[in-house]
Amino acid sequence: MQVLSVTPEIFPLVKTGGLADVAGALPIALAGKGVAMRSLVPGYPVVMDAFKKKKPLLSYPALHGGKAAVYAAEVAGLDLLVLDAPHLFDRVGGPYGDAGGRDWPDNWRRFAALCRVGGDIAGGGIDGYKPDIVHAHDWQAAMTLAYMRYGKAVGTPSLITVHNLAFQGQFGAGIFGELSLPAEAMSLDGVEYYGGVGYLKAGLQAAWAITTVSPTYAQEIRVPEFGMGLDGLINLRAADLHGIVNGIDTDIWNPATDKHLVSTYTADTLARRAANRAAVEERFNLASDGSPIVCVVSRLTWQKGIDILAAMADGIVAAGAKLAVLGSGDPGLEGALLAAAARHRGRVGTVIGYDEALSHVMQGGCDAIIIPSRFEPCGLTQLYGLRYGCVPVVARTGGLADTIIDANEAAVAAGVATGFQFAANNGDALLHAVRRLLQAHGDTDAWTSIQRQGMKADVSWDRSAGKYVELYRSLLARKVAQR
Ligand code: ADP
Ligand code: GLC
Repeated sequence: MQVLSVTPEIFPLVKTGGLADVAGALPIALAGKGVAMRSLVPGYPVVMDAFKKKKPLLSYPALHGGKAAVYAAEVAGLDLLVLDAPHLFDRVGGPYGDAGGRDWPDNWRRFAALCRVGGDIAGGGIDGYKPDIVHAHDWQAAMTLAYMRYGKAVGTPSLITVHNLAFQGQFGAGIFGELSLPAEAMSLDGVEYYGGVGYLKAGLQAAWAITTVSPTYAQEIRVPEFGMGLDGLINLRAADLHGIVNGIDTDIWNPATDKHLVSTYTADTLARRAANRAAVEERFNLASDGSPIVCVVSRLTWQKGIDILAAMADGIVAAGAKLAVLGSGDPGLEGALLAAAARHRGRVGTVIGYDEALSHVMQGGCDAIIIPSRFEPCGLTQLYGLRYGCVPVVARTGGLADTIIDANEAAVAAGVATGFQFAANNGDALLHAVRRLLQAHGDTDAWTSIQRQGMKADVSWDRSAGKYVELYRSLLARKVAQR
C-alpha cells in the first residue's frame, strides 16, 4: 500500500513540537507492516541542506509567485518528497515565522502551495507514483484534501490527523481568488469558514476520515469547551472520527543506549540514573541534597498550563521537591519561571531554550516530569517519562488521561500504577499530586515499582501503527464499495 503523507514538520530535520516526532516515526513503523509512506515536506533550508538535488520529479514554472520543483530525497531512513520553492521556504527563522517568533505574513500562501502540490501528486503528477491514500497533518497540510476533492484525485481516500485543534489556519476571504480552487469551493461544505477561508476546516470537511492523537481527545473535541468552534462540524463527521494514540521512537528514546545520557541504564540498573541526575543538578544549579527533582520540558504556553505551574512553584519547593524547567515560549511565562528560580536558588532552575540533548538527560536523571496541560491532544513527554523511569505527573485530559495509570491505592495494590493524575486547570490539584508523589518517593519499593511498571508500558508505535493500517484498509474497502 502506498501512502502519501503531507506534513509541515518531520523529525529529525525540522521540529517545533510532537507533530514532527509523529511524522518522522510513523513511516518507519508502517514500513514493517507493508505500508510504504512517502512524506511531502516544505524545502526549508535545513531540509534542502540534507540531500543532493537530482532530477526534479515535478516542476512548476510559477507556483504562487516563483519557480518550484519537487525532489526525491532519502534522509534518515525517510522517503521524502521535498517541495523546493525558495520564494516561500528559503528563509532564516522557524518553519512558521521569523527568528523573533512573528508568523510569516504569507503563511496562507506557503501552505496553500504545499497542499496544491500534494493534491497534484495525489492526482498522478509524478510519473510512476500514484498513492492509494493521502494522509495530511494539521492545518498546514489540510488543504491538500480540498485540492484533491476539487481536482483529479477526488476518488482517492484521504485522512487528516488533528494534532491540535487550537491551530486552524484561518484567513480572510480575500485570499480565495489566489488559491486556484473552483468558485463552488467557497461554500459552507467547502473551504469557507465564518466568511473567510479555514484551512483545517476545509480538511475536516473533505477528509474521508479524521483522526486525533488519542481517544479521549477525540471525544473532548466534540464539545464546545475543547472544540474551538469546530465541534459542530466534528460532530457531523463523528462516524468518521477516530482516536489513535501516538507512540514514540523507542530507538531514539531508549535509556539503555541513549547517547545523550551521561549514564545509560535499564529497569534493573536504576541506580545508574544518579549520574544523569547529578548532570541535571549542575546544569540547573540545584542542590545535590538527595531530594527529588521534578522537571518540565515543554513549550511555555497557556495550553500547557505553565501559568498554573509557575503559580505553584513556591508550593512545590515548600513540599520538599526541586524543580527543573526547560522550555521556551510566552515571554511572560518565561519571566515567571526565571523569577521562581531567582526566588529559590538551589531549589528551582529554569533554562530558557530548546535543547534536545538536555531533554534526554532530564528524562534520564529527574525523578518525575510534570505535565499540567489545560488540554493535550496526546502529549509525548509523558511517554518518554514512562520509558525513562521519570515518573509522569499529569493533568487528567486528552492523551495524558489515556496513557498514565494513576497511583491510587487500588492501582498500587494491583501493581499497575505508572504515574500520577490530577484534575486539569487546578493548581491545588497539581500541588496535591506533587505531595502524593513525594510520599511515594519516600517508600523506595513503592517508587521503584511505579518506575518499573512505567518502563514496561508499551509506548512503541507498533500497536498504533497497526491501527492506522486498519483504518487505511477500511478506507480502501470503502473506495471499492463506492465503485
Ligand atoms: P507539543 O507538540 O504540543 O509541544 P508534545 O508533548 O506532543 O507537545 O511534544 C513536544 C516535543 O517537543 C517533545 O518531543 C518534547 O521533548 C519536545 N520539547 C518541547 N520543548 C522542548 C525544549 N525546550 N527542549 C527540547 N525539547 C523540547
Ligand atoms: C500536538 C499536541 C500534542 C501531540 C502532538 C503530536 O502538538 O499538542 O499533544 O502529542 O501534536 O501528535
